[in-house]
Amino acid sequence: MVKQIEKLPDHVCIIMDGNGRWALSRGLERNVGHRQGVEAVRAATEYAAEKGIPYLSLFAFSEENWGRPKSETDAIMSVIVNAIHNETPKMMKNNIRCVFIGDREQLDNKALKRMDDCMRQTAGNTGMTLIVAVNYSGKWDILQAVKRLLEENPPAEQLLSPEVFSSYLSTAGVPEPDLMIRTSGEMRISNFMLWQMAYTELYFTPVLWPDFRKPDFEAALNAYSNRKRRFGKIEESI
Ligand code: FPP
Repeated sequence: MVKQIEKLPDHVCIIMDGNGRWALSRGLERNVGHRQGVEAVRAATEYAAEKGIPYLSLFAFSEENWGRPKSETDAIMSVIVNAIHNETPKMMKNNIRCVFIGDREQLDNKALKRMDDCMRQTAGNTGMTLIVAVNYSGKWDILQAVKRLLEENPPAEQLLSPEVFSSYLSTAGVPEPDLMIRTSGEMRISNFMLWQMAYTELYFTPVLWPDFRKPDFEAALNAYSNRKRRFGKIEESI
């Protein structure tokens, strides 16, 4: 009998790490690891949708990733752009709504068009929301929220509310992540959803991203299910 996971998160975010090491350990070029990472993206998305997790966020490309050699940034961007194109029909079939977050400024027109086409096509889907962070950083997100808030010049008392502030973040309307999974054994948040992860449960696994499959995701959900979340309170007052 399949064991039921007792408490499912509403929102899981994943820092997909270890593509380069996965490839190098096999004597392959780092970019092969990025291509292989798409298989893990597919497996994680399918599993989250099957489980009925409402929101899944994937950190696909950070602002800091531009610091890698151009051959690698070009390769990662083209893996992402092609995957978006190839996977859109599957998202339609599985009723998945796909949303992209991140700074659009440095992205080329082809990438922007593919992202916009995918968002437009999947906008009416009512199943899981897949959030893909491309050229994203948590500090960028906070700063763009502050800039838009100031532009709209709301009254000072509104500026001081965490709820109003959250509504200017790129994840407006999305619940804060309950669970963050990072693969490859690194134990950092690496400028992902900084504000949003204030009370997120963190889960680190040594599995390299291209090897991450349903049993690894299930292990993370089981660990989450056993966590006691007190949000700074004591058990009796929750
Ligand atoms: C981190 O591994 C991974 C990335 C920077 C890229 C993630 C992108 C994908 C998995 C491509 C597909 C994504 C989508 C959403 C379709 P790393 O290169 O930092 O690995 P290392 O730490 O071993 O060097």
